[in-house]
Amino acid sequence: MSIEQAIDRLKEAKLKGGSVAVLTGAGISAESGIPTFRGAGGLWKTCRPEELATAEAFEAQPEVVWEWYEWRRGIIRKAGPNPGHLAIAQMESLFSNFFLITQNVDNLHERAGSRTLVHLHGTISHNRCYHGCPALIEAKEPQAMIPKCSCGALMRPAVVWFGEMLPEEALEHAAIVSQEASVFLSVGTSGIVHPAASLPLLAKSNGAFLIEVNPDPTPLTSSSDLVLQGPSGVILPSLMAGLTSRTP
Ligand code: OAD
Repeated sequence: MSIEQAIDRLKEAKLKGGSVAVLTGAGISAESGIPTFRGAGGLWKTCRPEELATAEAFEAQPEVVWEWYEWRRGIIRKAGPNPGHLAIAQMESLFSNFFLITQNVDNLHERAGSRTLVHLHGTISHNRCYHGCPALIEAKEPQAMIPKCSCGALMRPAVVWFGEMLPEEALEHAAIVSQEASVFLSVGTSGIVHPAASLPLLAKSNGAFLIEVNPDPTPLTSSSDLVLQGPSGVILPSLMAGLTSRTP
């Protein structure tokens, strides 16, 4: 099992006009200095994400939840895309059918130049009304106090919390591109939060060659056709270098 095999599969997809789908998780932003949710450094003040990223937690302790998001925002504001994000953005230009599906809320894919992408879990760069008023308000500056909507309700980060529905259109689109993919890359995700975690298996059951990029094993590892074990900031640029240095 080697990176050569991945390059061959991607090259074949390119030649045959097949489509490539990539699912990313927090691991791709780890090398930008943004902590992942789980594993080493994944905890914040001993709280698990499942305890903080919920409407129940926000109702019970809005200041604590807000502080966690402000902490993440502070890190994200200072962070920039890493070679893994850049490689995905470059890959997009190589394929006529290329789709990026991200669980990440940090917008580093866009900042790296990715254009064809869907966000499954929203974006941390904006707030919205906790009671559902439609406006999205950009959170440009740190805000120690939770801002209020004009309706009087608290504002909350424009991300998807546990127990909430994912944006319907984004999820539908992600499912379609997963079903159509000839090659599906699952990058830097622990593969335990559904429905995103089902997409690689949906792709595989529809004939995709499934490649996992992750330094550690995940529940997806045993179902993957190829596992590229290592940091995405190293593996993805190598993949791109192999794709661009060979004749098609
Ligand atoms: P996790 O924190 O669950 O998993 C991060 C994954 O990245 C792990 O499998 C790590 O082994 C891997 N990883 C770490 N460093 C890496 C590197 N340099 N290169 C590649 N992989 C690396 O993050 P997600 O799978 O994204 O949801 O978590 C899924 C969802 O759970 C998140 O979107 C978020 C969270 O709660 C919501 O906020 C709704």
